[in-house]
Amino acid sequence: MTDELYPVPAEWAEKAIINADRYAAKYRESVEDPDGFWRREAQRIDWIKPFTTVKDTSFHEDDFNISWFGDGTLNLSSNCLDRHLATRGSATAIIWEADDPNERGMTISYRELHSMVCRFANALKAQGVKRGDRVTIYLPMVPEAAVAMLACARIGAIHSVVFGGFSPDALAGRIKDCDSSLVITADEGLRGGRVVPLKHNVDEALDQCTSVTRVIVMRRTDTDVPMTEGRDIWWLDAEAGVTADCPPEEMGAEDPLFILYTSGSTGQPKGVLHTTGGYAVWTSMTHEYVFDYRPGQIYWCAADIGWVTGHSYIVYGPLANGATIVMYEGVPNWPDPSRIWQVVDKHQVEILYTAPTAIRALEREGDEWVKKTSRKSLKLLGTVGEPINPEAWGWYHSVVGEGRCPIVDTYWQTETGATMISPMPGATDLKPGSASKPMFGVKPALVDDKGHILEGAVSGALVITDSWPGQMRSVWGDPARFFNTYFTHYPGYYFTGDGCRRDEDGYYWITGRIDDVINVSGHRLGTAEIESALVAHEKVAEAAVVGMPHEIKGQGIYAYVTVNAGCQVDEKLRTELIHWVRAEIGPIATPDVIQFAPALPKTRSGKIMRRILRKIAEGDISHLGDTSTLADPAVVDDLVANRPSNA
Ligand code: PRX
Repeated sequence: MTDELYPVPAEWAEKAIINADRYAAKYRESVEDPDGFWRREAQRIDWIKPFTTVKDTSFHEDDFNISWFGDGTLNLSSNCLDRHLATRGSATAIIWEADDPNERGMTISYRELHSMVCRFANALKAQGVKRGDRVTIYLPMVPEAAVAMLACARIGAIHSVVFGGFSPDALAGRIKDCDSSLVITADEGLRGGRVVPLKHNVDEALDQCTSVTRVIVMRRTDTDVPMTEGRDIWWLDAEAGVTADCPPEEMGAEDPLFILYTSGSTGQPKGVLHTTGGYAVWTSMTHEYVFDYRPGQIYWCAADIGWVTGHSYIVYGPLANGATIVMYEGVPNWPDPSRIWQVVDKHQVEILYTAPTAIRALEREGDEWVKKTSRKSLKLLGTVGEPINPEAWGWYHSVVGEGRCPIVDTYWQTETGATMISPMPGATDLKPGSASKPMFGVKPALVDDKGHILEGAVSGALVITDSWPGQMRSVWGDPARFFNTYFTHYPGYYFTGDGCRRDEDGYYWITGRIDDVINVSGHRLGTAEIESALVAHEKVAEAAVVGMPHEIKGQGIYAYVTVNAGCQVDEKLRTELIHWVRAEIGPIATPDVIQFAPALPKTRSGKIMRRILRKIAEGDISHLGDTSTLADPAVVDDLVANRPSNA
């Protein structure tokens, strides 16, 4: 929290697409006359058959419905490719930067990308993929990842991209849930100088999945990997014999575009389902206004395609806008902490969009890594994924941006499709740490425990009171879970799961999740997911996982584990459990602390009191609150006395 204010720089106020007056006028229009506003904004997309209805939505149980531009038809891949060919065909679509700075990158024009996508779309068809089929994409950050996504969109197949850091088990769960018929992967991935055994992971995952009949494998490292006869085919062989002529499939606005799995507060990750028309309008519009994007500018979103940020702000939003994107295979700090800034200089990046965790990690390495690069090309900086602490914001602004680049702190979620609350660089005075003001069409509200809307400068649970075009439409295969997760806590509203404060100027300050979701380095994990991984281990009787403050990651993972009677607890078991969770879910879920506990604090009805576990994990042991309702208060004393030394 800070009172610092960074006014909109004069040249931004003058030249930006959205200035303060336009923001105010457009915002008002967007909430007072959503039909008129969105009818106009939707013209940024080329429709095959124009829509007549704009918005048909209700968050209430009796007439629950979310439909945007419902009777329109379009194809999103042709919006990202074909329509640019006449005017921008030779313009660069993708600048690809390899993991290893000594490896030659690649520059791909819109015309080239169009033909790569069409050819691969035909290859998918030749392998039997049809409209509506699910295709799982498990690729490194290579242009083929975007090609694969766009090829699915072209033929109406529904892609499910799984982050390359997920384990075979996690991959298998995601393949099974949506019944994918085909997996697209690579022999290996490269990330920060390390090899990721993607094909090997797919082979292991497919031991558990019967739905997959085909695996297309691209060569990244050219390593010898086993190919299963009749099932596996090399990317290039799949393309042999097909042409680069693939007319786009005419899709309904509400036809599914993709599924993306994300963690919730309970059980298995859920398949967030996004549809075509509303998502296209929403990602394209927010990309243009938030980044003040003009074709020709070099734009780099340093996320991974396995997350929603990669979907909306590497692929669909920017390419719909004819942008030139940088796509980077590696990590920001390899081979050294200067890499990210070297890439900025090498490709003359004007707009850089990354995560607070990366900013904090790079800040820790010292200013010299930044200062030895020029960064003169940078005009605008962005962050996403978790609250940015004002200190890191200040470093990003003054050291990285040398005080001249506004920072857009964009708040949104996998479920929201694109940015919900964010400054616009020509319109919004910045307050470090605040995502500031709502996007057009977004009606945020803060509510108390009873769901009453709170006015003025207050804190509460963040809900959105009306639909926006890029909202998720369902949980794949489980519409009831969709309704129950998001619309029952506060009936009539979409519940984000986040806590939030609104200040006197109407700025929103996200304070973090108030459900059992934790945010580790901007990656979302359900505590229940990690707990079920732990209890799947033969020696574990019970586990409770909570978040703990972590300097770089934002939140770390603190696991309380009770072992079965007779099992020895020692360092060996601790290490074994850490490896176990990595194997079950993936390295992003690695516990930072494991505390062996003879028992967990429970109420008399047997409910684990997480509030107390969170306090102990935070080291805030003098504020444990009321422990008198516990079945056995002595359990808490034991936990406090035996906090591990690395906690
Ligand atoms: O808690 C909020 C946090 O990340 C959650 C959404 O995570 P995910 O679906 O993985 O999407 C991340 C990328 C869009 C939110 O519920 N979050 C995201 N952006 C911000 C944020 N918290 C504060 N400020 C942000 N800018």
